[in-house]
Amino acid sequence: MTRLIFLGPPGAGKGTQAQILAQHLNIPHISTGDILRQAMKEQTPLGIKAQSYVDSGELVPDQLVQDLVEERLGQADATSGWILDGFPRKVTQAAFLEELLQKTGQGGERVVNLDAPDEVVVTRLLSRGRKDDTEEVIRRRLEIYRNDTAPLIDYYSDRQKLVTINGDQSQEEVTHELKHTLAS
Ligand code: AP5
Repeated sequence: MTRLIFLGPPGAGKGTQAQILAQHLNIPHISTGDILRQAMKEQTPLGIKAQSYVDSGELVPDQLVQDLVEERLGQADATSGWILDGFPRKVTQAAFLEELLQKTGQGGERVVNLDAPDEVVVTRLLSRGRKDDTEEVIRRRLEIYRNDTAPLIDYYSDRQKLVTINGDQSQEEVTHELKHTLAS
């Protein structure tokens, strides 16, 4: 049973690698960013609430993402494992997830810290050009990553759940290293 969490700065390749691995393992790729963008596109109540946060690179309030993660992990396809991409992003969200996984008997998760330098991720994101990929918003997302999300590296390292992978390699090299590391 594979339960994986991807951590890393914006543009490190979390979504890219999570999707490849999820297909390979035949488990769902659960991206909170993708779920929020879809909700924004459909203008659901969640999307309307999340819009201004996502557009400016701020984190949406914990309760909104925690509710959507709890609902998604409760769906039938998640019983065979999952890859979480973009959640948790703060220690408060990690504590919530820990409690949820305990409550639902879904332990044994591992955490991949996909790392890449700021200049590399800024260049990648500027050439991708999503709505939140302007230089100003990317810098803000990086600042939030450093302040709020990077502390999760120690959080999961202390719990001996963390592996770090260099995201500053070709996509194929990252996938190869990931599969090799997770098999060991
Ligand atoms: P989210 O969608 O999670 O954005 P992000 O973390 O900023 O991640 P990105 O999608 O930008 O990067 P990635 O690491 O997935 O890289 P990717 O594979 O796409 O979140 C967006 C927003 O939603 C947040 O700002 C926040 O507002 C909200 N949100 C989401 N979760 C939340 C939460 N838990 N709490 C609160 N708010 C939340 O690759 C990027 C580009 O690089 C692509 O073009 C790709 O082709 C390319 N690339 C990938 N790998 C390589 C490689 N090895 N070499 C060259 N290019 C590569």
